[in-house]
Amino acid sequence: MVQTLQVPFQTKQQVTRPQWAFFKGAIVPIADAKISIMSQVVNYGIGAFGGIRAYWNDEQAQLYVFRINDHVRRMLNSCKLFNTTLRYSADDLKHIILDLLRREGYREDTYIRPLVYNATEDITPRLYDVEFDFACFTRPQGNYINLQVRACTSSWQRLDDNIVPSRGKITGGYVNSAFAKSEAHWNGYDEAIVLNQNGHVAEGSAMNLFIVRHGKLITPPVSDNILEGITRNTVLQIARDLGIEVAERSIDRTELYIADEVLFCGTGAQVAAVAEVDHRKIGAGKIGPIGQKLQETYFGIVRGRNSAYADWLTAVYT
Ligand SMILES: Cc1ncc(COP(=O)(O)O)c(C=O)c1O
Repeated sequence: MVQTLQVPFQTKQQVTRPQWAFFKGAIVPIADAKISIMSQVVNYGIGAFGGIRAYWNDEQAQLYVFRINDHVRRMLNSCKLFNTTLRYSADDLKHIILDLLRREGYREDTYIRPLVYNATEDITPRLYDVEFDFACFTRPQGNYINLQVRACTSSWQRLDDNIVPSRGKITGGYVNSAFAKSEAHWNGYDEAIVLNQNGHVAEGSAMNLFIVRHGKLITPPVSDNILEGITRNTVLQIARDLGIEVAERSIDRTELYIADEVLFCGTGAQVAAVAEVDHRKIGAGKIGPIGQKLQETYFGIVRGRNSAYADWLTAVYT
């Protein structure tokens, strides 16, 4: 059996409770940010969220938010899927997030959870004649999964674009992630790899996936029912910059078994090695050379130690 790093799974840890939330147009104490049980987001999952990380750099005494503009843009794209517009511009949302972080005054790695939700209290699930509002909270966040995991292919399929589009981070769609993640957990794995309706590899429960074959880094295309991950895009960019050949093409399940390396990536997952899939050891059963290079470069960038990628970072404290 492959050894995993002894980093505890985040949900088992005591997470410090944030003090503040942005709710109904203002920063309020977190305890006052309550959504009605009659709202459509609670009843039907009609909402969309984002997941952004901010990394603390101790030497610079600075908190850096990673690719905030891209995250905000993706959330506004989810609003487009709902055919709704918010009363906040992309710039407003960015400032709300930064204000919230400053109010908390974090000096540690942090997770930011913006949420667009259907606040209307009515029985008919719908997107017209309803009120969407924006809320946000933040919290300290260490690793979401270990940086080396064992995974299984899931018996649950990824949502199809014509069912609930995976390219939006749609609240209700994450029931699919919960099924996949929980089945993997109950079967003794760390993570699930979910196939799409064509039987191709889509992604993990909340992370994108890459394989390495013959020195080439391969990831499913955005048309294979995946989230258009910002970390996926980051890894592709880093790989190109490092001179690694990349391809976006469908991946078969059995390609996972014979891949030289398998990687997960995401805001939560960061860049993590998949050391085993369905009991097959991947490569040497630990992070491979390409994964290692990508992971090191990624952590250098997000923590503000690689000036070539400074454009991706927004300093919280000025
Ligand atoms: C289903 C799913 N896939 C992939 C990802 C990775 O996306 P990103 O890198 O934008 O965080 C996430 C979110 O973290 C996700 O929920």
